[in-house]
Amino acid sequence: MGITIVGSLNYDLVTFTSRIPDSGETFRASNFETHAGGKGLNQTVAISRLRKPNADYPVRMIGNVGDDSFGRELLDVLSQNKVDTSHVGALAGVNTGVANIIVEQEKGGQNRILIVEGANGGTVYTSDELKSLFDSMYSQKEMVVLQHEIPDPVSIMKWVNENKPGYQIVYNPSPFQPLKRDSWALVDILVVNEIEALQVAQCTYDGNHLRSIKDSVNKDFIEGYKQLCKLFQADLVNENKSATVIITLGVKRRLFSSKAQPDVGYLPAVTGIKVVDTTGAGDTFLGAVVTQLYEGEQLATGISFATTASSLAIQKSGAAESIPSHAEVNAATGDS
Ligand code: RIB
Ligand code: NA
Repeated sequence: MGITIVGSLNYDLVTFTSRIPDSGETFRASNFETHAGGKGLNQTVAISRLRKPNADYPVRMIGNVGDDSFGRELLDVLSQNKVDTSHVGALAGVNTGVANIIVEQEKGGQNRILIVEGANGGTVYTSDELKSLFDSMYSQKEMVVLQHEIPDPVSIMKWVNENKPGYQIVYNPSPFQPLKRDSWALVDILVVNEIEALQVAQCTYDGNHLRSIKDSVNKDFIEGYKQLCKLFQADLVNENKSATVIITLGVKRRLFSSKAQPDVGYLPAVTGIKVVDTTGAGDTFLGAVVTQLYEGEQLATGISFATTASSLAIQKSGAAESIPSHAEVNAATGDS
């Protein structure tokens, strides 16, 4: 039993500013912080913290940091969050991945992120290595979670699909990279935001079909994305498994569909939230959905729990550090 995340670990260098300077301009920012980050690490911490308090399944991370102080800090954060780090390597001679993040306070806490992949670029595995990684720790019921901040998540998905057919593969194509049509079919649970959803469509469907998808979204935003969600669910993801598709629209609205419940569900926006920093909001949402589904909750219930989790995360600065616990999410929904 367990959930394994194969992904990136970044040391986030975060500058908060009222606005970004123009090219050639020097501008005084308001604040600087460092935080644990990287989509892989954030999702791992989210999954671990958002497990039910008495959950007894392990959460493991596979990835790489550099053999430096940033890397050691990130490993500490994972350990403090009860993550099994025995498969996180510390590579000699490369830096730990770094993300330079600018949070624009005048733009509602929106961010701009520049990544230097460093040791995350070393997260490439041969099939022998994958065999020894997965054989040493796995039983029947497993979820494997991947994003695209490591070089080749698709070969890992392929290997898992061929060698561990019972496992569920969760994929968050972020930052987006085009995949071949049949690679999407390796994915059991696909989680995309509104931009990524269109990018997935763009690399999958042809001229006329793509044009009609874009027209629908332009004509009626929610309705257009509902059709896209349904299309991905029926046509793109792994039809032999739960075939689940979740599209997040902004940080708050969600669309979702699965083989069991193909009619697209819609969760409207939560209002009245004071946004401090949206960094890691999507990772918090994804991690929460994963634990909820792993623990057997219905998709709609999981999505609403996860939306509360991410709305708590955006009210604090930082990525991993702003992720709430299971109890905090329940307290926020008055369901403790
Ligand atoms: O998803 C947020 C993350 O993206 C940040 O923590 C940063 O490290 C980048 O990877
Ligand atoms: Na945050």
